Amino acid sequence: MDGLRGRAEECAALDALVVAIRGGESRSLVLRGEAGIGKTALLDHLVASATDVSLARATGVESKMELAFASLHQLCAPMLDRLPRLPLPQRQALEIVFGRSAGAAPDRFLVGLGVLSLFSEMADQARHPVAPGAAERDAELGVRPDPGLSGTHLVNRRPTGAPMTPSTREPELLGQTVVVIGGSAGIGLETARRALGEGAEVVLTGRNQARLDQAADELDVQRTAAFDATDPAAVEAFFAELQSPIDHVMVTAGAPHYGPPLEMSREEAQRGLTEHLLLTLTIARVAVGKVRPLGSLVFMGGTGARRPRVGLAIASTATVAQNTLIANLALEVAPIRVNLIAAGFVDTPLSAAILGDDLDRRRDELRSMLPIGRVVGPADVAALAVHLMINTALTGATYDIDGGQQLVS
Ligand SMILES: NC(=O)c1ccc[n+]([C@@H]2O[C@H](COP(=O)([O-])OP(=O)(O)OC[C@H]3O[C@@H](n4cnc5c(N)ncnc54)[C@H](OP(=O)(O)O)[C@@H]3O)[C@@H](O)[C@H]2O)c1
Repeated sequence: MDGLRGRAEECAALDALVVAIRGGESRSLVLRGEAGIGKTALLDHLVASATDVSLARATGVESKMELAFASLHQLCAPMLDRLPRLPLPQRQALEIVFGRSAGAAPDRFLVGLGVLSLFSEMADQARHPVAPGAAERDAELGVRPDPGLSGTHLVNRRPTGAPMTPSTREPELLGQTVVVIGGSAGIGLETARRALGEGAEVVLTGRNQARLDQAADELDVQRTAAFDATDPAAVEAFFAELQSPIDHVMVTAGAPHYGPPLEMSREEAQRGLTEHLLLTLTIARVAVGKVRPLGSLVFMGGTGARRPRVGLAIASTATVAQNTLIANLALEVAPIRVNLIAAGFVDTPLSAAILGDDLDRRRDELRSMLPIGRVVGPADVAALAVHLMINTALTGATYDIDGGQQLVS
């Protein structure tokens, strides 16, 4: 290497490191030597040869040894604008570490995980690997600083060195708990599956324990609980014994009350108009104090009310009120977020039960009519539900998902 006489071997090792990380690997390297032996010159060589690699740099100073997280702060300060993109527990841990919010000293493992996530975010943004390098070893990560030691840690998407591809991103609900009220079938079951895929712990509820057991055989859920969500006492009892804090509650329990309104009994009409609204209110009430700030409540509604139709009066009126209730509850329970999904036809057991023998004809009709040329499935809705959990900018709104159905019918 030019200008570094007698250091060809060390320079070659550093060059190999940069080549490896360019190739998509994650690497760590510790540069050890007496003070004044030329470690800084070698690090300068590394920096000069890694011009196409993002670099974060920090210097450990012995006098700051007792200062909690001093070096980590140096290293991460330029990346803190990415904090909102981290999973909630990691973000909260780093916010305390970096003095952005008050709280008890967080778990060091969580801090380490949060730092890795920050670098992953940075790598994603830069679309090439990141070298948070040239740092003295960091006392906060459990190692005492040593003036004779320099370290460079090159981080790719994953800490273990798998090639960086779009599919190797961090799970976005890692360490979070998602409770699905109505999770043994349809949209709830698919939301549970997707949340598990994003690293969440999942609790499933429904009325029928056998169906819940079947779901639990299929998915690795934390626990199940059988109760009727329209019974407020049962909902309150379930939440009272739920370990908190939890991060997200998805409510898919309940079904629309279709039928000719003039022929409904007063009691039936009253139930149709109020049942889902009162369930929403109950969930909001029990969520306060249980769900973390910026966690979320996600409810299900429909797009049916966008156009009056025979037989939909009660169901549609309840749906319209639901939009308003959601927007208001978002103010009442803030900073917990509250959102509503308004679905068109979704191919679930509920649709099958409502349509009976007419199901296949309806599917065919939708395939030929919808702009997307296919029927919306529960996994489509689950993807939206999990996005509403992850994206902390979203609250108080209704999100339509109907494959364009309301545009053409
Ligand atoms: N499918 C659609 O086309 C569509 C369109 C718009 C809106 N939605 C709404 O989206 C939600 C989910 O629909 P889906 O199609 O996924 O329904 P689904 O296939 O019938 O699944 C509903 C899930 O909720 C549970 N559940 C139902 N009532 C409950 C109650 N009172 N207490 C506790 N758990 C209950 C069911 O289990 P148990 O039966 O064992 O309790 C099941 O696990 C519903 O609110 C529905 O009105 C659906």
